Amino acid sequence: MPQIGKEEIEAVIKVMETGVLTHALGAGPMVQKFEKSFADFVNAKHAVAVNTGTAALHLAITAAGVKEGDEVILPSFTFVATAEVVVMNRAKPVFVDINPYTYNVSPEKIEAAITEKTRAIIPVDLYGLPCDMERIREIADKHGLVIIEDAAQAHGAIYKGKHVGAFADVTCWSFYASKNMTTGEGGMVTTNNDEIAEKLRVLRSHGEKEKYTSLMLGHNYHMPEIQAAIGCVQLEKLPSFIAKRRENARRLTSRLKGVERLQLPMEPEGSKHSWYLYTVRLKEGLRAERDRIIESLKDNGIGAEVYYSNPIHLMPYYKKFGEFRLPETEKASKQVFSLPVHPGVTEAQIDYIADSLLQLLK
Ligand SMILES: Cc1ncc(COP(=O)(O)O)c(C=O)c1O
Repeated sequence: MPQIGKEEIEAVIKVMETGVLTHALGAGPMVQKFEKSFADFVNAKHAVAVNTGTAALHLAITAAGVKEGDEVILPSFTFVATAEVVVMNRAKPVFVDINPYTYNVSPEKIEAAITEKTRAIIPVDLYGLPCDMERIREIADKHGLVIIEDAAQAHGAIYKGKHVGAFADVTCWSFYASKNMTTGEGGMVTTNNDEIAEKLRVLRSHGEKEKYTSLMLGHNYHMPEIQAAIGCVQLEKLPSFIAKRRENARRLTSRLKGVERLQLPMEPEGSKHSWYLYTVRLKEGLRAERDRIIESLKDNGIGAEVYYSNPIHLMPYYKKFGEFRLPETEKASKQVFSLPVHPGVTEAQIDYIADSLLQLLK
């Protein structure tokens, strides 16, 4: 549920009054302001704004040098965009299994999947919980691999005292309407690597540093000025959004803990969740039972949803990349569901969600 106030509306009107709606080389004044604020927020040297999180991932893997014939290791338990961009670059997605408690990609499975062709790893901070990045960094360094972190769901998440992304070579963010902060549609790539940052900026705008002088194959992934203006306001509000999500998650956990059949979301030592999604699991449950619970919650007016009921390796298009044995991913996809904790949810609504679920599980 996007949290749009009068500040965002005023910011949009201001941009429209200036008449500067975009910039031919990708970064108008508002985009530059948003990039600077976002880079400062996550403590990155560079931030490059784009028009979607998918575009952010596409530019990141291209700038990191992923190309035809390469293999890229990633989870199957994620939004399809994570895999899409690997295929767009004619590389092969190699799906690996997750940890059944964090739902994040398992470092041991990553290491076991490395071959001579492996070029990059895309860990996804699923639901907003940071991956085990220290361990993944060690593996990447040992094998000379690039880490592109998909932090599309993790604005505000902290790992080992730092914003997520600190252990990656390149980090990708989404500002899609449902995210912790939004620009309607939008994305950002952050990095401390000067060379990658330079490539990202050129790729974003038709491969151009100067107009009509393409240096490489590029794209039109410009973020419009109106979107950047919304982003600047949303970024200022982000800490209060996260605090409210955290409070809602804490209250929901206190109401649901002790229920034998539910596995609740966790925060491992050293990690702070962004609480983009509060995801529970019906232990030993079958898909049909989980789906019935969701339907009943919806009948009670509660926006419960499954992320993700179909792992990517089982999707019709992606089956051709091989038969992957991912038992934890497949099991989780049948048992998880997410409950609303966004900043628009009140304490009383959290209690109602908890009571409704407890009633259904009786
Ligand atoms: C994990 C993940 N990766 C990538 C994306 C793609 O972002 P976008 O929808 O902004 O293109 C999303 C969100 O939609 C996501 O949740």
